[in-house]
Amino acid sequence: MFPNIDFTTTQAYKYLADHYITVNEKSLKELFAEDPERFQKFSTQLEDILFDFSKNRITDETIALLVQLANECQLQEAITAMFAGEKINATEGRQVLHTALRNQSNEPVIVDGEDVMPKVKAVLEHMKDFTNRILSGDWKGFTGKAITDVVNIGIGGSDLGPVMVTEALKSYKTRLNLHFVSNVDGTHIAETLQQLNPETTLFLIASKTFTTQETMANAQSAKNWFLDAGAAEADVAKHFAALSTNEEGVAAFGIDTQNMFEFWDWVGGRYSLWSAIGLSISLGIGYDNFEELLKGAHRADKHFRETEFERNIPVILALLGIWYNNFFDAESHAILPYDQYLHRFAAYFQQGDMESNGKYIDRNGNRVDYQTGPIIWGEPGTNGQHAFYQLIHQGTKLIPCDFIAPAVSLNPLGNHHQLLLSNFFAQTEALMNGKSEEEVVAELKKAGKSAQEIEALKNFKVFEGNRPTNSFLLKKVTPYTLGTLIALYEHKIFVQGVIWNVYSFDQWGVELGKQLANKILPELVNDEAIASHDSSTNGLINQYKNWR
Ligand code: F6P
Repeated sequence: MFPNIDFTTTQAYKYLADHYITVNEKSLKELFAEDPERFQKFSTQLEDILFDFSKNRITDETIALLVQLANECQLQEAITAMFAGEKINATEGRQVLHTALRNQSNEPVIVDGEDVMPKVKAVLEHMKDFTNRILSGDWKGFTGKAITDVVNIGIGGSDLGPVMVTEALKSYKTRLNLHFVSNVDGTHIAETLQQLNPETTLFLIASKTFTTQETMANAQSAKNWFLDAGAAEADVAKHFAALSTNEEGVAAFGIDTQNMFEFWDWVGGRYSLWSAIGLSISLGIGYDNFEELLKGAHRADKHFRETEFERNIPVILALLGIWYNNFFDAESHAILPYDQYLHRFAAYFQQGDMESNGKYIDRNGNRVDYQTGPIIWGEPGTNGQHAFYQLIHQGTKLIPCDFIAPAVSLNPLGNHHQLLLSNFFAQTEALMNGKSEEEVVAELKKAGKSAQEIEALKNFKVFEGNRPTNSFLLKKVTPYTLGTLIALYEHKIFVQGVIWNVYSFDQWGVELGKQLANKILPELVNDEAIASHDSSTNGLINQYKNWR
């Protein structure tokens, strides 16, 4: 049974509210000084991933109370309900089973009385066969040449996952050049097509619904470009494949349904990189590596289902997020990978998290009177250090951060990796310890400053510290490890949604934008002034018509 409990009415919530007052008086520096075992106590390892959460504003009691909160909100029941295929996406009447796509066990996954695993495996086989045919050059374009370039046309969950993963795993790249077109702005497709030869280009039209305005417009432009290059309608089958749940839509667009890679409505868009939507990943890094990604994610699923909450990485991540969001009033959360390959990781989870838990109506249909999903943001270190870390260190806002780094670089070059990791270690230490007034004064004295100069400068140079961070130290970025890491973050989002009592798997807020754009589009066709909106919207549209 999927619970719907207002977490602010639980015993644990009340205890946590009191406990917050005690914890808030303590600094992280003091907590570390008091307990030499703190790292052992508040860190855990899942194969090649070390998760250190000791630099958080927590004590044993905090963890005990947060776990009590999870128990009172019946988290275990919710986890069981998701994996068992209950229709926990109730507002859309759907199951949430992206975990079935990476299920490596022999357990069946039942949807409406049917085991979906044979269908899942059949699509994976199709993806494998297709990938191998393209990579071997066996698959020929309309003039008999092998494919050299693949363009994935999709948006949101049909774009961000494949982009993030293929960037993260670029060092495992196949011979194919990958391109991603998402924005409806014609610049995106125009700039991409300019680099391509229609004879050797394969387009993947990635859309769960096959109705999304941006994707359909880009797909049509790609098809026009292809036909304008002298190809015939019959050649489309050699250069266009569809990744979708909508067979009718795919056929209507003119794509051979033999070239359709199916997935199902129990896969949410932002959780779909494990499905046929991952075809660009399979082409980009090879099918075997794609399978490793799935295996890594399955490892995380097992960990999530089987590990006690005190050591359960997604559960701890989620509970810490709730601790800061709902007790410390933190508004955002930064994800900071110290790995250039992971440069789209934060952007990916910006959608994953914010589209899932950016909701103000709870599962009982009432407006919540507490904060739900945080603002997720971030950039790779060390670039971030020279951009926005100032605010994290000395700003007025509390910003909990996740630091992520691999121990082994995929590009060992001189001492670059040691330079990078020295920053990774130094930042979380500095955010925790800060710099005291005594330290600042001693430093300024040593630099030969006068007492007057020291007095004038010192306040600006003091760092309060006490800024909480999590650290993920990975042995190396591999398809398997990345799969695990992504799935851990996915489950974190799920846990938070359970506790905030929101429906994490719908996205009505995005649907509204689609409807509004469709209403305005016909008004832009001619040059007549319009008066059907508020004065601001009318003014903007009419000026656009004057200028175009
Ligand atoms: O952004 C809203 C959304 O519905 C996402 O959830 C989804 O990933 C994206 O649009 C694309 O949708 P589709 O795959 O159906 O084109």
